[in-house]
Amino acid sequence: MLENPSKATGDHLRPKGWTADARRIIDIRSKKHVSAEDPVRKDILDGLRSSPMTLPTYILYDAQGLQLFDAITRLECYYPTASEVSILTQGARDLAASLPDNSTVVELGCGSLVKTRLLLYALERLRKKTSYYALDLSSSELKKAINGLDSGLKYVSVTGLHGTYDDGRKWLARARTKSSGPLVVLWLGSSIGNLSRDDAASFLSQFVKESLVPGDMFVIGIDRRNDPDIVWKAYNDDLGITRKFILNGLNHANRHLDQVFRLEDWEYEGIYHKRGGYHEAFYIAQRDVDMRGIVGNESGHFPAGTRILVEQSWKYSPREATILFDRCGLFPVQRWTDAAGMYDLHLLHVPPFNFSISCLDPTHVPNLDSWEELWKSWDLVSESMMPDEMLQEKPIPVRNECAFYRGHVPTFFDIKLTEAVPELRPLEPVYFHGIFARGIDPDLDDPSHVHWHSETPQTWPSPDAIMKYKATVRDRIKCMYSNQTLTRRGWRAIWMGFEHESMHLETLLYMLLQSGTTIPPPVPAAMVFGIGGQPCSFPDTTTIELHDIELGMMDSEDQDDTVEPASAHEFGWDNENPASISSVSGKLEVSRKLITNADYLEYLREIGSQRIPQSWSGTVVRPTVKTVFGAIAFDMSDETGPAQWPVVASYNDLQGYGKWKGHGWRLPSEVELRVIYDYSAKGTSTDGQCDIAQSNIAFKFWHPTALAPEIEIAGPGSMGVWEWTSTVLTRHEGFLPGRLYPEYTADFFDGKHNVVLGGSWTTHPRLSGRRSFRNWYQRAYEFAFVGGRLVRDAL
Ligand SMILES: C[S@@+](CC[C@H](N)C(=O)[O-])C[C@H]1O[C@@H](n2cnc3c(N)ncnc32)[C@H](O)[C@@H]1O
Repeated sequence: MLENPSKATGDHLRPKGWTADARRIIDIRSKKHVSAEDPVRKDILDGLRSSPMTLPTYILYDAQGLQLFDAITRLECYYPTASEVSILTQGARDLAASLPDNSTVVELGCGSLVKTRLLLYALERLRKKTSYYALDLSSSELKKAINGLDSGLKYVSVTGLHGTYDDGRKWLARARTKSSGPLVVLWLGSSIGNLSRDDAASFLSQFVKESLVPGDMFVIGIDRRNDPDIVWKAYNDDLGITRKFILNGLNHANRHLDQVFRLEDWEYEGIYHKRGGYHEAFYIAQRDVDMRGIVGNESGHFPAGTRILVEQSWKYSPREATILFDRCGLFPVQRWTDAAGMYDLHLLHVPPFNFSISCLDPTHVPNLDSWEELWKSWDLVSESMMPDEMLQEKPIPVRNECAFYRGHVPTFFDIKLTEAVPELRPLEPVYFHGIFARGIDPDLDDPSHVHWHSETPQTWPSPDAIMKYKATVRDRIKCMYSNQTLTRRGWRAIWMGFEHESMHLETLLYMLLQSGTTIPPPVPAAMVFGIGGQPCSFPDTTTIELHDIELGMMDSEDQDDTVEPASAHEFGWDNENPASISSVSGKLEVSRKLITNADYLEYLREIGSQRIPQSWSGTVVRPTVKTVFGAIAFDMSDETGPAQWPVVASYNDLQGYGKWKGHGWRLPSEVELRVIYDYSAKGTSTDGQCDIAQSNIAFKFWHPTALAPEIEIAGPGSMGVWEWTSTVLTRHEGFLPGRLYPEYTADFFDGKHNVVLGGSWTTHPRLSGRRSFRNWYQRAYEFAFVGGRLVRDAL
């Protein structure tokens, strides 16, 4: 419930003796409409003076327009309503169950509430206390709609909000208080389609930035790019109701423009643009029309055939929807699709931090906004999920205690920065450089064989001391960005510190997964369930042609003394250098997805092994998958749940699985896997970058996922884990140890480490998005978020 919203608007609290047929409507319109200039008139005139000419879409929705729209929604050809009704008829309970108790649900453009009532009644049946606010433009229609809802609702309170979307956004930002419960913004009817893709992204982003906080949600109905004939018919019905609806917009405009539009001068025309994926509704002048008196100057002369655009209806493929959400910092939690696969209802979550996949520039120095998001993620994982009580724990026995990682990340940064920028001195306390410089990563075959690492002190510094140090290091990073004399080496240290922290975020999470004391993250539990299932039309394997490809990138350190801006140079780790062409030919039969938990369980049962991977708990008879939310049992018949997630296991174990499969099945080499990734991107990768728009990386989900049905073949991070390759990490031709961090790769040329590619659900998009980025682990290492897929030579 929003704390006393009436106070924010000057409205009165619900009066005594209130009944459902007198549900309250709060007027939240900005007071512009009482000023000298009528804002609707201004919008109309601005549109008529612009090129191309437009009228605001909202003029379609006066009281008469809303009634006509309601009639449209009942037409058989207007499939978006039928699709959304079918989704809500089946899924309202599921959706209601995913919304938190005591939430405030605000619906944008609620219309007649025919569909919304399905959700409200489901919330009532589940006894979820909900404050529902219905927002729309016409107060008379709003009154009818909200008073038409069941008067006996006990758990769901209903209030109207009279105003525009913008008024609603501003009102929410004002009315919300610290004690308000989570906010859910409901936007049905594919109304988002009335905005262009860019405007939709700005609209949602502004909402997220100004009115929402982490933990809030959006529920958005979106029409897909369906058969063009079906889409066109939806907006061009035989009974002419859509025509009446659009032409009625001129009546509405006339009320603000002194009756300047004569309806007989104008006709409706609808056009669907198949390539762009949007329908447009126009007014077409039937004869020369002179409106110079009102529009002013020559732009008011409309020759016969003049078009005025009044409405666009943009359609979204699942991929376009994913890109839209990423641009706005909204993470998909769940998706419901109608049986015909024409329409989606998305449940989205405002995450505690946001590593945007779009707007990515993975070879250059990250900006300060990216640092801020990384710090939020680091604090959440290293402090909220790993409380002080865990600091002495060693969730992975061969690695350091948890305490080490809290101190290591800021210390590493300070060490590299002071090496790269001669005028800097180590920050206090300087002795941190001695105890936090490098962690333990022993040879698994002989744990006594271990690289140089910092001495473990008798007692670690206090959490407060580490926190203070971290804050000072962060201040130092911020200062660096305004340093006009920084050399490329200085920027390299900043770039390196960022990617190093991102990698440690991942390390910490796979460690925390092994501990029983980890606190789950503050994201909705519904995220555990993953993407809604749908039939997949792709075969289990695809045969692809292998070909020569370029691997790596060019990043010499010879010019590191140059003073230059952050954006001047492209950075990569020493093992990414130099770029080279790798030759590979022939045909490869490639599995569409990675080896799943269900596949691996079947294998263990077949060979009679009791040895489950470290990513599971329980037994072979009743195994569970470890997640940050706790262990989850896997039901072999569930098509989207943990049984269909990729199994996380060592290279050796997955290679064993391949051998058991026989018939030439094996894990791919590094070059083969890159060719597979390029194939999966279908040419959408740009120079030096991977296509990761559909990947489950960057905490889109807080666990691995089944492969989405619309993906033909898994690409980097598609299922939320890295992939093992059969390529042993070796010193390649032209390799030079990085001068700022010489041991980064060179310490691992022991023949025991294999290259892994892609990314996991925890991987920063900079790493998964940079085509030259490579990771590696010992073949026997079981803990990292790495799975594998089988390939075999094709004839
Ligand atoms: C496509 S209809 C959808 C109605 C309803 N949600 C449904 O799914 O049937 C769009 C709704 O949004 C409202 N609307 C359009 N533009 C608006 C704006 N700028 N501010 C507030 N409401 C608006 C309209 O009045 C109408 O009720």
